[in-house]
Amino acid sequence: MNQQNKEIVVSGIRATGNLHLGNYFGALKNFVKMQNDYDTMFFVADLHALTTNPDPDMLHANVRNIVAEYLAAGLDPEKATLFVQSDVPEVSEMYLLLNMHVGIGELMRTASFKDKARKQLGIKSESDDIEKEIIGTDSNKRVNAGLLTYPTLMAVDILIQKATKVPVGKDQEQHLELTRRFARRFNSFYGVELFPEPTNFNFGSAPVKVPGLDGSGKMGKSEGNCLYLIDDEKTLRKKVMRAVTDEGPKVPNQPVSPTVENLFTLMQLTSSPEVVQQYRDAYADCSIRYGDLKKQLAEDILKITLPIRERILDLQGDDATISRILRRGAEKARERAAATLNEVRHVMGIRRF
Ligand code: TYM
Repeated sequence: MNQQNKEIVVSGIRATGNLHLGNYFGALKNFVKMQNDYDTMFFVADLHALTTNPDPDMLHANVRNIVAEYLAAGLDPEKATLFVQSDVPEVSEMYLLLNMHVGIGELMRTASFKDKARKQLGIKSESDDIEKEIIGTDSNKRVNAGLLTYPTLMAVDILIQKATKVPVGKDQEQHLELTRRFARRFNSFYGVELFPEPTNFNFGSAPVKVPGLDGSGKMGKSEGNCLYLIDDEKTLRKKVMRAVTDEGPKVPNQPVSPTVENLFTLMQLTSSPEVVQQYRDAYADCSIRYGDLKKQLAEDILKITLPIRERILDLQGDDATISRILRRGAEKARERAAATLNEVRHVMGIRRF
């Protein structure tokens, strides 16, 4: 709790490209809803983006775009603290310190690490021998160490602010579990109560997983199946109309195939309950026409994204506003981070003479 007795909330999004509906429904929508009742701190994770070695100019542009997208979606710098991860150097120092209590085994077992390591090594299969590949590879391909310690850095983002609630999508749950483990481990190793154990937060509902419309599991930048907040009307409609479906129900109350369930999942996030029910009923009595469902879905998505898109376009060129907001945000984020870092250094025996 902070001085006004509001719980501290931290979350961030990597600076790897424009924000898509997965980011929006998994995270950003809740950021906006939480800013009134919590002490909220939202950042752009540029250091995390470095784990996949982006082009430096692109990285910088992505940071600015995401801040514009945060503001366009409704984040208010008078209520929420908005900052860039690398503007808080205390994070980098604590990352080094916390790594002393993190095992390379537990990091290597993290699902997101295995996934991204496979990509960096160019391995297609799901082989569980990824450890062998990493150690044994004699090619010039390598898995960078930043990727391995990605969860340490994420834990530090959260713990350095002593946050208790972290609004993230389902794909980040394992990282949050590690964060809690590291907090517990640090507290018990030094016999202190320094870090609270943060939990995911989605207003009492299960964490969200926004599916892709290409029949794959999740909507994601590296999957290339994203509906972006910045997409114009024509592009978005085209993407939705191309969504993968099936041949349609042949008998009443037939189970829904995973690809069509993906459409319903997205509809549940964007359309009214009545509309969803109408299409569920049409599926159940075999009268559904997927073309109509897609049209409706595109319509309802556009109602959410088009106003945001307009504001993004307005804000994107306004570097002065963005830089003013980020400077103020960094100051506040650093203040808290520096206080925690001091405690951590002291507890670990790094003390000034
Ligand atoms: P990132 O940049 O991959 O994603 C940002 C947020 O969007 C959510 N998300 C989704 N939610 C539901 N369905 C999807 N298809 C989908 N795709 C993305 C993610 O769950 C996330 O909430 N490690 C983080 C960034 C980070 C962070 C932190 C988050 C760094 N430090 C501290 C919270 C606290 C990441 O890579 O998110």
